[in-house]
Amino acid sequence: MTQQTSYNTGKGAGETVGVALLGFGTVGQAAYRLMNEYADEFTERAGGPIEIRGVAVSDLSRPREGVDPDLLTDDAMSLVLRDDIDLVVEVIGGIDLPRKLVLAALRAGKSVVTANKALVAAHADELAEAADASGADLFFEAAVAAAIPVVGPLRRSLAGDRVNRVMGIVNGTTNFILDAMDESGASYDEMLAEATRLGYAEADPTADVDGYDAASKAAILASIAFHTRVSADDVYREGVREITAADIASAKAVGCTIKLLALCERLVDSDGKESVSARVYPALVPRNHPLASVSQSFNAVFVEAEAAGRLMFYGNGAGGNPTASAVLGDVIGASRNIVLGGRAPGESVYASLPIASFGSIDTRYHVVMHVKDQVGVLADVAKCFANRGISLKTVRQEGSENGARLVVVTHMAREDDLEKTVADVSSIDTVLSVERVLRMEGDD
Ligand code: NDP
Ligand code: HSE
Repeated sequence: MTQQTSYNTGKGAGETVGVALLGFGTVGQAAYRLMNEYADEFTERAGGPIEIRGVAVSDLSRPREGVDPDLLTDDAMSLVLRDDIDLVVEVIGGIDLPRKLVLAALRAGKSVVTANKALVAAHADELAEAADASGADLFFEAAVAAAIPVVGPLRRSLAGDRVNRVMGIVNGTTNFILDAMDESGASYDEMLAEATRLGYAEADPTADVDGYDAASKAAILASIAFHTRVSADDVYREGVREITAADIASAKAVGCTIKLLALCERLVDSDGKESVSARVYPALVPRNHPLASVSQSFNAVFVEAEAAGRLMFYGNGAGGNPTASAVLGDVIGASRNIVLGGRAPGESVYASLPIASFGSIDTRYHVVMHVKDQVGVLADVAKCFANRGISLKTVRQEGSENGARLVVVTHMAREDDLEKTVADVSSIDTVLSVERVLRMEGDD
């Protein structure tokens, strides 16, 4: 049961909200600058002044511009627990330290705004319980797709609808890399370095390129959309590290581009039993699909709901200012509640749907095989697919050194069946290797 705190009644109109800003990196610096720049307007919007009373960093000796040096501290916990702090903005990143700081804040009845998807996806239950127990707000709009409002619309605007699918590009770094590889043939390593320089990538870019960042975002989206707790570990995940120029060329040959997609679906089996699937993988997307034209570090999220139909959210998915925009929207919302009273809608996981096994999902596949260039190969391969009930949409053969490349595109098939088919195909004498299996998403 939710406990009441003084924040539910509010400090009173015109009272000041004391803010602790934890982190002064890409996002923290932009948030600090914009909070100062728009201070007067923010006062009007929140019902009282919002004042940054401390800024936590890890290295106090580093020279810093654009911040009042008296505000800096390397003791984030003491800052969080100070009596003059009402609201904590966590933009440090990582999990262990932010978890301690955010829990300490929430337990002390202080509202929290965070951009940290890794934290929210890994510890959502614990954070929600702490917020419910003290009556504090926990906001994390910036954690998914940076500037794009998608958490709020799912949680509030679509609360009266039934969401069946959420699909999109939710990682700016990998979209930046794949887009450049597709557009100009740029190299993967070069573009990753550039995304890091531009402040899009995580402190450890492995989180981006191996799909962990997108998986955390998928977990958050699926949890809200389906009123079911989905953690990052529940999300099937493949990254883009293995994607090569040859894969991009192969996708182009069938009229597609490659995008790292997050897919969250409500599945209904033949008995009407529902489950939730959340997955992240690079997929071929037809060039005429709106997701194919999402370039650079932009993100896009499609939502399909029963009454609303199809909705599309598009915009800046990474970077200091775009992320600060979402952080500051939450800061205003939390501040308004601190000043005027009330609390934002919290977690809703009443449906508790089971998580579907990855093998039970249906999609289309693009399979590239290296085969001996001899009579009967195609028939043997086609037979393997047919034996598992998988129908082929297109088959293409290209000459290559030491044999031929056979590229098949399937119609909808079950993941389990495809996996078995790949094993069957690999055991044919005339098939030298199955070089790549990529899924294909977007309307057929
Ligand atoms: P940065 O690495 O640029 O900044 C991290 C900040 O945290 C630095 O100021 C660092 O201090 C500080 N910090 C690190 N350890 C501590 C510590 N022990 N105590 C106090 N401060 C500490 O990260 P970003 O700004 O890019 O990202 C922040 C968060 O926002 C992450 O959770 C990220 O996932 C999320 N996010 C980022 C987006 C982006 O485009 N960058 C978009 C959406 C979300 P110091 O300056 O001394 O190194
Ligand atoms: N590293 C993340 C990305 C930041 O590239 O999308 C935004 O969440």
